[in-house]
Amino acid sequence: MSDQPAANLLTVKDLKVRFPLKSSSIFAPKRYLYAVDGVSFSVTQGQALAIVGESGSGKTTTALAIARLIKAYAGQVQLQELDLLDLAGDDLRQARRRFQFIFQDPYSSLNPRLRAADIVAEPLAAMAADAKQAIVDELFQAVGLRPEQQRLFPHQFSGGQRQRLGIARAMAPKPQLIICDEPVSALDVAVQAQVLNLLRELQRQRGLTYLFISHDLGVVQHMCDQIAVMYLGQIVEFADRISLFKNPLHPYTRALLSAVPRVDPAMRGKSQRILLQGDPPDPANPPSGCRFVARCPVAEARCHSQPPALRRLASGQQVACHLVSDDAVSPLG
Ligand SMILES: Nc1ncnc2c1ncn2[C@@H]1O[C@H](COP(=O)(O)OP(=O)(O)O)[C@@H](O)[C@H]1O
Ligand code: SF4
Ligand SMILES: [Mg+2]
Repeated sequence: MSDQPAANLLTVKDLKVRFPLKSSSIFAPKRYLYAVDGVSFSVTQGQALAIVGESGSGKTTTALAIARLIKAYAGQVQLQELDLLDLAGDDLRQARRRFQFIFQDPYSSLNPRLRAADIVAEPLAAMAADAKQAIVDELFQAVGLRPEQQRLFPHQFSGGQRQRLGIARAMAPKPQLIICDEPVSALDVAVQAQVLNLLRELQRQRGLTYLFISHDLGVVQHMCDQIAVMYLGQIVEFADRISLFKNPLHPYTRALLSAVPRVDPAMRGKSQRILLQGDPPDPANPPSGCRFVARCPVAEARCHSQPPALRRLASGQQVACHLVSDDAVSPLG
């Protein structure tokens, strides 16, 4: 075994995205919704990193800002040697070929007027026709679609098959990074498992790197090497998959886990269930202390005034909670 640590493919540093809010008058000071408020993480080449959190926590905005599909107002995004946020023009177009998206609803992201083969071949525009066809044939087989389905239009596929088509299309230009944004959330549970298995298998065979977004920890528990838990625009816990499921530290992570049926005995860790009450606060007007304070069952006085910083523990886990001890004991035991 080599002692060399695996290289980071993607490094995100202190990423911030805000959306302007409508003001009541033109004289009122400009107000913003801070959708992503200082997010940092890195994804190792060949691994899958999950971003998990409730709807509205800023997961999609983080992904779109990384891919330069929306504008970040601060931070750094490094894809190997490239500073993505500094690129423009042709350099940006070239860089964009290095990552691809798989979306929740493949139907709205696939051109309804193109046949399946042309959808998969679309990102290969400049290539000779027979070379394209060879790639399409190979990808149809790799994602479990039949050759005769190449002639069909998107509406002639089932939801699961359509997602397979979306996956084939994302793989076609051989991207380094694949961003999967809730790729199975629109599918039946049985079909979800098939599509997740396919994604995992393709990752293993092709050494792909995934940034995998989901609101459901259950979906990522067999899929991802590292997990970032996001709450209201910030990462509140970051850990490798085993640590996160065996010893979840942040009260919010506990709450998310309470909703996940766990079948894998190795993952059966802390079992105290906590119920997530109420909705997350308004991101346009976040609490001044810990953002989780209004829903936290163990909040103390200082939680209302002091925001907890994300700190790295000796165990390697990172957590933003005043009450988690340095030796990785959660306030929930
Ligand atoms: N284009 C936009 N304009 C204004 N607000 C937005 C826009 N996109 C997202 N938001 C807001 O930013 C926050 C984060 O949204 P999003 O990244 O979609 O969360 P998630 O993917 O975790 O559900 C939400 O409060 C959402 O309403
Ligand atoms: S800092 Fe306080 S309010 Fe926030 S999660 Fe920890 S205990 Fe709860
Ligand atoms: Mg989203």
